Order: sequence, then structure tokens, then C-alpha cells
Amino acid sequence: MFTSIILAAGMGTRMKSEKPKVLHRVCGKPLCAWVIDASKKAGAGEVVSVIGHKAELVRGELGNACEFVLQAEQKGTGHAVMQAGEYIKRADGYVVVLNGDTPLITAETIKAAVEYHKENGNFATVLTAVLPDAAGYGRIVRANDGSVLKIVEQKDASEEEKLIKEVNSGMYVFDAESLAYALGKLTPNNAQGEYYLTDTLEILLAAGKKIGAYIIADSDEIRGINDRVQLNEAETIMRRRINENHMRNGVTIRIPESVYIEDGVEIGADTEICPNVTLKSGTRIGRNCTIGTGSVLDKAVIHDNVDILSSVILDSEVDSETHVGPFAYIRPNCRVGKDVKVGDFVELKNSTIDDSTKISHLTYIGDTDVGKSVNFGCGTVTVNYDGKKKYRSTIGDHAFIGCNTNLVSPVNVGEGAYIAAGSTITDDIPADTLSIARARQVNKHVSDEWLESKRK
Ligand code: UD1
Ligand code: CA
Repeated sequence: MFTSIILAAGMGTRMKSEKPKVLHRVCGKPLCAWVIDASKKAGAGEVVSVIGHKAELVRGELGNACEFVLQAEQKGTGHAVMQAGEYIKRADGYVVVLNGDTPLITAETIKAAVEYHKENGNFATVLTAVLPDAAGYGRIVRANDGSVLKIVEQKDASEEEKLIKEVNSGMYVFDAESLAYALGKLTPNNAQGEYYLTDTLEILLAAGKKIGAYIIADSDEIRGINDRVQLNEAETIMRRRINENHMRNGVTIRIPESVYIEDGVEIGADTEICPNVTLKSGTRIGRNCTIGTGSVLDKAVIHDNVDILSSVILDSEVDSETHVGPFAYIRPNCRVGKDVKVGDFVELKNSTIDDSTKISHLTYIGDTDVGKSVNFGCGTVTVNYDGKKKYRSTIGDHAFIGCNTNLVSPVNVGEGAYIAAGSTITDDIPADTLSIARARQVNKHVSDEWLESKRK
């Protein structure tokens, strides 16, 4: 067990945003939430975020994902960690320091670094990576025997030190007591006048304590996000990770570069995801489904063997063997049963559709409970809103709704009722009756003069 301290007080000026940087999202999840989750997955006991810029917004969005401490003024990374002093004091042996803007760090790497730290009997272990272009990062200065001596910031580095390709990821494992000791000795004697966390390594070494470096093989994991270009780069990597994970679990993804799947989506084996699909957090899809090109699913729960073609489903459930689309729009709070057809240009809202009902085309159903095996003709509309209030209607099992019917809610259509095409239904229909609610057709003979006047 270890305590994780996540530095997230910075402003993120280069994002050019009203929103604090760590709340920007990668694959649907705030940057710092990725880091919090990786910490927890790696076995962190306590996780504490150091917040400052727009602290209340950050706290509000993260809720109880972690503990918070406030760094009112940003006086450097060392100063940020000092704010978590209370947590360091009560830490169970080790403290891991991470950055809130490096979402690609994995639980496996954090775990491996903690193991490395323990096995080597280190008091501080810095996580490093070797980069072809180290510009901007602190450099790892090693002695001839390879042991770590210190970290120098770009701004404080000599020309020779600037040639070093091994960089500080900004992530560390510390022995808790040693960290507290070293923080007590920090001074802001550097180019930026800040308390550098990096200086703790030298301080510990001078006190005769062993320090070391754990080199992260995949340098992508240390990518920090400072602007929207880097946000996209990180998201591209994260998207690939997520998609490959689904593919390894038995999901076919066609043209995966075009498919955007957020964190926290479940997909069953043998389901096929077609190009240009968006699956947002909270969506769960069963086995052997097809999610057709261009579909957008947000908090949708889809059971097995469902076909969805170029459709939008929000916050709704679709049971097995059902077909949706093309171009259907299922709005929040719908429950669609088994073996249902929701065809082209059908919109559903806040409605339940029971098993084997067919709504093949051009229909709006809002605030309505529909029974089993109902057949909707083309162009049915539930008239659920009178400009002030919304009303609910019910349609019984096996009802047959003729084309171009208006159902003026609230209205109840009985089981097995028939509605003639073109009817505007304003009164309840008893079971097993035929309802016709339209003017009778009249064919009139007209004079030649009348026809001529029309055809001129
Ligand atoms: C830091 C490291 C550098 C390393 C780099 C990796 C120091 C002195 N330097 O530099 O060696 O290569 O990270 O990305 O530590 N923060 C606070 N409060 C502060 C200052 C910073 O919470 O007072 C947070 C920032 O929000 C950010 C993180 O700490 O999440 C890193 O701070 P930043 O200013 O970006 O440090 P760098 O200059 O990049
Ligand atoms: Ca940085």
C-alpha cells in the first residue's frame, strides 16, 4: 500500500480555456481522473490531489474520487507536495507523486516502479524516460557508475547537461519519512525561484540515502498535456489502447482509427463496430450485435443480437434481437423490448415499447407505453404536448395503427384495436374495435369551365 499525491494545482495557460487543465477530457474522462484511477488500480491506499487554480470546480467534478488539499499559491512542485504534509505523515510506508496532466500513465508502471523502489532499497526513485528530444524536461544527471546524482531543470542546466536524453517524468516513489525530511530542507534557490520537488533527490543523497531511477520503457506514458494539440495526441494513444482492448476481448472494429469509444464502455464478444461510431461512457452492448456506421450511443444499454444502423440512442435500453435504424433517434428514458423494429426516421422519447412491436418508418412516439406486437403504419405521431403540459398515452397489445395517425394524448388504445389510416384520435378506443376519425371522402363532378380555369 502507498499514498498517492497528484499535482493538479497549475493553471494550464496554454490550453487557453476557462476550464482548469486537469478537467479537460481524454476519452470522456478528466485528465486527472485517469491518474487517480491508475493509482487506485496500482494499489494506492489513499489518493490526494493538490488543487489550486479553480479548486472548487476541480473538487466539484471529481467529487469523492480522492482527497483534496489546497495550494493557494503555486510556488513550485516541491511546495505543492508540502501541502499534502498531513497525508505524508500518516502514509503507510511509501508515497508516489504523480502529475494530474499525464493521463497515459498506467497502473502497471506505477506498480512496477514501487516494486523497483522496494527491491533496490531506495529512499527516492524517480520515474524517467529516454526521449529523442528532451527539451523542456528536467534531465537526469548520473555519475560515471550510472548512479543517479540529481535532476537539473532545463532552465538551470549547463550546455552539457542539456544533451542528456534521459528525462524526469515528474513522477516519483518516496519513502514517506524521507520525503517529509527532504521537503523540510527545500529552498527556492533556482532560476524560477520555486521550491523544486526535484531537489529532494540531491538532499536525500547528501543525507546518505540511496536514490535511483526507474526507466519507463514506453515513453508515451509520461506525455504531459499542455495544449490542445497534445490533448489530441494523448487521446489518439488512449483511443488506440481502448479499441485494442475491446478487439482483444473479441469485438470486431472496422477502421478503428475512426471509432471513438470512451472509457467505461462494455462490449460483448462477436459484436461488430462499424466505422465512424461514437460510444460514450456508460454504454453497455451485448454479444453479437452490429453497431452500424455513424451511430452515436450515450449511456445506452443494448442486449444481445441487436442491429443498430446509423442511429442515435441516448440513455435508453434496447432488448435482444431488435433492429434499430437506419436514422432512428431514441431519446432518453426509453425501454425497447425484444424483437422490435424501430425503423428509419423513427423518434422515441420517454416511452416503453414491448416485444415484437414494429415501428417501421417516419413515426414519433413520446411519453407513451406501447404493448406487444403492435404495428405502426408510416407517419404515426403521438401528440403529447399542448404547448403547456405533456401527456402520456397507452397502446394495447396487438393494436394496428393505420398510416398517418395522430394520437392526441392522453389517450388509450385498447388491445387489438384497429385505427383507420389518417385518423386523429382524441378519445379512448375500446379493445377489438375499429376506429375511424377522419372526414369521409367526397368526389365531385366539376364543369369544363372550372377545369379550364385550373389548367390555364
Ligand atoms: C516538472 C519537473 C521536471 C519534469 C517535468 C515533467 C520540477 C521542478 N520539474 O517540470 O523535472 O521533467 O515536471 O513534466 O518539478 N504544480 C502544482 N503546483 C505548483 C507547481 C506545479 O500543483 O506550484 C503541478 C502542475 O499543475 C503540474 C505539475 O505540478 O501538474 C508539474 O508542474 P510544471 O510546472 O508543469 O513542472 P515542469 O516545469 O513541467
Ligand atoms: Ca509540465
